[in-house]
Amino acid sequence: MIPVKGHALLKDGRRIILTLYRPEDKEALVSMYANMSPEALKWGLPPYDRARIEYWNSDLTNNITLIARLEERIVGHLRLFRIPFERRKGVGEVLIYVHQDFQNLGLGTRMMRKAIELAKEQGFHRIGLTVVADNHSAIKVYEKVGFKKEGIARETFYGDDHRYHDEVEMGILL
Ligand SMILES: CC(C)(COP(=O)(O)OP(=O)(O)OC[C@H]1O[C@@H](n2cnc3c(N)ncnc32)[C@H](O)[C@@H]1OP(=O)(O)O)[C@@H](O)C(=O)NCCC(=O)NCCS
Repeated sequence: MIPVKGHALLKDGRRIILTLYRPEDKEALVSMYANMSPEALKWGLPPYDRARIEYWNSDLTNNITLIARLEERIVGHLRLFRIPFERRKGVGEVLIYVHQDFQNLGLGTRMMRKAIELAKEQGFHRIGLTVVADNHSAIKVYEKVGFKKEGIARETFYGDDHRYHDEVEMGILL
């Protein structure tokens, strides 16, 4: 049985299921990343290949991994990684990717809200992330769900445009 964690009703009327990732979801997740456009991934840190996905999902016990499903297809992926040091107790790092056919329909916001809810239930104290300063839609989503800008790392991201871009450190205290 799929452990359903909620639904997302997209702005175009489609209904997406949110669930926790299970090992049998791997191929669908590999397929989602394989089908993401260069434009959708331009502010990311490739490669998004099978090895990366296996690495992300090698420890499902300490982390929260959410997927968004439309029938057999995975269309969104969120990983909240619990940093394993005692001096980082309750501190997590999040990453999120929504397939380009499903962006700007409210899914990313819904997934972040669900992750924050689960993180609170599981005793997280803080979630942090790093985002390229030009990734405006991502920053919009993070601010909407309560993240604050905490600082700028200057010219840490070398883009497809062969230029360096600043990155923004963001965080939310739960
Ligand atoms: C960032 C991402 C997860 C957001 O998911 P999403 O499902 O598109 O997000 P939502 O639809 O919930 O919200 C997007 C918001 O950004 C806004 N937006 C879109 N383009 C924008 C722009 N150029 N400038 C400012 N806001 C913008 C939308 O209007 C929307 O806000 P609203 O709902 O208040 O109108 C998704 O775009 C994505 O996967 N991008 C590629 C991977 C990535 O960059 N991940 C983050 C790495 S840190």
